[in-house]
Amino acid sequence: MKKTALAYSNIALIKYWGKSDDNLRIPLNDSFSFNLSGLKTITTVEFSDKFKKDDIVIDGGKNANEVARVVKHLDGLRSLSETKLFAKVISQNSFPSKAGLSSSASGFAALTLAACTALNLNLKEKELSIQARLGSGSASRSIPGGFVQWYKGENSDSSFASTVFPQNYWGIVDIVVVVSDVQKKVPTSDAQKYALTSPFMSKRLELVDGKIESLKKYIQQKNFQKFGEIVEGECLQMHAIIATQSPSFIYLLPETLSLMQKVRSWRDEGLQVFFTVNTGHDVHLICEEKDIEKVQKKIQEIKFIKRSII
Ligand code: PMV
Repeated sequence: MKKTALAYSNIALIKYWGKSDDNLRIPLNDSFSFNLSGLKTITTVEFSDKFKKDDIVIDGGKNANEVARVVKHLDGLRSLSETKLFAKVISQNSFPSKAGLSSSASGFAALTLAACTALNLNLKEKELSIQARLGSGSASRSIPGGFVQWYKGENSDSSFASTVFPQNYWGIVDIVVVVSDVQKKVPTSDAQKYALTSPFMSKRLELVDGKIESLKKYIQQKNFQKFGEIVEGECLQMHAIIATQSPSFIYLLPETLSLMQKVRSWRDEGLQVFFTVNTGHDVHLICEEKDIEKVQKKIQEIKFIKRSII
């Protein structure tokens, strides 16, 4: 009853922000993402009657909040398989966690897959996505591959993600640019609770389905300019909602904003690159494969950048 799983993080092009059911993590809107091969979590889960309690190690540490969240997730999977066995979990991220790079997405996807396999639950992709969602919403999107839509659904059984375009449909690259090594102060799950207090949230919910349809159309047509405009606008819209909630939060650092401005000036010079940022300060630069080197050269010229991951 010991299995190891690997999952990739994903970047939401259309974001998940706000839940209709906090406990079941049912979102207020559909979201759309692609997986990131450079950001991965590898997790080993072992269930055994020799363990007297759960033992959880994430990135070599035992942060109490993270451990509690993993134990809660294991409890759900244990009740699904009608076992009371405790587990040993060892999870390692290939990238900094708590910086808005969605380690919870790859983390809970890998945990779900490893634990369900160790428990012989034999779940299909849809069911794995549902189970991963219960650990972290965005983890539902790290189960299927390629360009993925998470359908908000009406209840737990209908809220899951699946592939819309396969992995190699379009040569789009995400370069994660780490602008600071500070950890974000407010976890996403806390900040998300207040989404509906923003006066702009109702308008967002009115328009978001249309935005996803347009994005899918531009992916289908491989129209990078239109695709990028939607992605960048969506990022700014989510951060505007977050900043106008009560309580209000600002995740963006001066370095984040500085890089956003630079991206726009690079576009003015003819380089097709767009940005998106999750609840953190690091910036995802999105370009076509043919432009990777040009974008990397621009990044190398900026002093405050710590590192980048393709
Ligand atoms: O799944 P969580 O709780 O990490 O929330 C993810 C929320 C955003 O990253 C901000 C947006 C998204 O859809 O990934």
